[in-house]
Amino acid sequence: MDVYADDVPDRIVAELGGPANTVLSDLAPSIIGAWDVDHARQVDLARRALEIAEKVLDHHGNVLIKLFEGPERKKLQDDAALYFERSRLLKPKASRPEASEIYFLGLGFKTRWHQPRMGPNG
Ligand SMILES: C[S@@+](CC[C@H](N)C(=O)[O-])C[C@H]1O[C@@H](n2cnc3c(N)ncnc32)[C@H](O)[C@@H]1O
Repeated sequence: MDVYADDVPDRIVAELGGPANTVLSDLAPSIIGAWDVDHARQVDLARRALEIAEKVLDHHGNVLIKLFEGPERKKLQDDAALYFERSRLLKPKASRPEASEIYFLGLGFKTRWHQPRMGPNG
């Protein structure tokens, strides 16, 4: 499944039979070694994870989303923080210290979940 497919949020909700309590994203691009490109692609994946979370998370739900350190990290973190009661960055012990990965933890999704609007036959 490509996370950029339009129907991903609907498929997740259908599979769960309702909204999600938690969204975990370990998405990362294939690393090509050009740091600015790898970072930009990872930020894009993290933004897509946040977009999906917005659509599938239940009220008070939580997210853990992988980020790569770099120039866009702070803006993404600040944007994501707006959706949650509390948030912070985490560096798990299992993550190598030299690795640029870091995780955004968002707790307490502020928005109430709205069932996706059904079409005329649904
Ligand atoms: C760091 S790995 C995650 C590994 C995972 N935690 C595991 O244990 O299998 C990053 C993953 O993101 C996936 N990925 C990258 N871009 C994607 C996309 N557009 N749609 C779906 N998965 C994607 C890759 O296929 C890869 O499996």
